[in-house]
Amino acid sequence: MIALDNVSKHFTSKRGTHHVLSDVSLTIDEGQFVCLLGPSGCGKSTLLNLIAGLDTPDQGTLAIDGKPIAGPGPDRSVMFQDSALFPWLSVRRNVDFGLELAGFRDKDERASRVETFLKKVQLWRFRDAYVHELSGGMKQRVALARALAPDPRVLLMDEPFAALDAQTRDVLHVELTEIWRATRKTVVFVTHNVREAVRLGDRVVLMATRPGRVKLDEPIALARPRTNEGDVAHYVGRIMKELRTEVEKVMREEIDDAWQPAPGAVPGSSSSGVGGGI
Ligand SMILES: Nc1ncnc2c1ncn2[C@@H]1O[C@H](COP(=O)(O)OP(=O)(O)O)[C@@H](O)[C@H]1O
Ligand SMILES: [Mg+2]
Repeated sequence: MIALDNVSKHFTSKRGTHHVLSDVSLTIDEGQFVCLLGPSGCGKSTLLNLIAGLDTPDQGTLAIDGKPIAGPGPDRSVMFQDSALFPWLSVRRNVDFGLELAGFRDKDERASRVETFLKKVQLWRFRDAYVHELSGGMKQRVALARALAPDPRVLLMDEPFAALDAQTRDVLHVELTEIWRATRKTVVFVTHNVREAVRLGDRVVLMATRPGRVKLDEPIALARPRTNEGDVAHYVGRIMKELRTEVEKVMREEIDDAWQPAPGAVPGSSSSGVGGGI
C-alpha cells in the first residue's frame, strides 16, 4: 500500500514562491489502478516524482507498506511521455539494459524476461529493430516492457500516451488493461485526459490547482475492457464538470499573472509553464 500523508511541496523562483502541492493525503491499495487527473501545471508530475523518490516533500510523509520513501528503488518503475529509449541499442537490448540496471546479473534469466515482456507488448517480432524504425506507439510499448521486466510492485506512469494519436492510444489502453490484469501491479497513471482516466482507472483522483490538492476521488465501477463509449461518457461528463472549473481558474490566474509582472520579468510572458496542453 502507498500512503501519502499531508504532503506539501513548493518551488521558489525569481517569480516568487509557488506552492505546488498542499496537504495531499492519499492511500493507494496494492494492485489498484489509480489515475491522477488534473490540468497542466497542477502538480501531477511533482506528486509522481515524490512517489518515485526522485524528489522530497517539504512537509508530510510518503511510505510504501509503512516504509518511508527515501529515494528511487527497484519496487517502483517510472514511465514518461518520452519513451527515453537508447537509439543505439536494439529493442531487445533496451529492455535487457533496464534489467542490468535493476541488478539482474544472470544472463539467461535476463534473456527469458526480455522475451516474456516483449511478447506481452506484442513486439517480440521487432526484437532486433532500432528505435528509429518504430512508431510512437511501439516505442511506448518497448518502454512499458522495460518498466515491467524487473517485476516492480508499482508502475508509475506520467502521461505515457499523451503524444500518441487517438487510435493508437485506444489500442494501448486495452493492452495496458490486459497487462495490468495479468500482472496485478499497482499503477499510478498521470493524465490530463478525462476519457483516458475513466477508461483505465479503478479510481480517478482529480487534483485541484494552485495549490495542487485532491478535489475529487471517484471510483469507476465499470467492467473491463471499457470499450462501451456510452458508459465511459457518463463518468467523463461528471468529472469534466469539476475539471472545467479548475482549468478556468488556471487561465484566469495566468491572465492576472501577465498583468502583474514580477520585477525583471518580461511583461506578458508567462514563464510558469502552467496551462498548456488542455
Ligand atoms: N523543479 C522545479 N522548479 C520550479 N518550478 C517547478 C519545478 N517543477 C515543477 N515546477 C512548477 O510546479 C508546477 C507543477 O508542475 P508539474 O508537477 O510538472 O505539473 P503537471 O505535471 O500537473 O503539469 C508548475 O507550475 C511548474 O512550473
Ligand atoms: Mg506533468
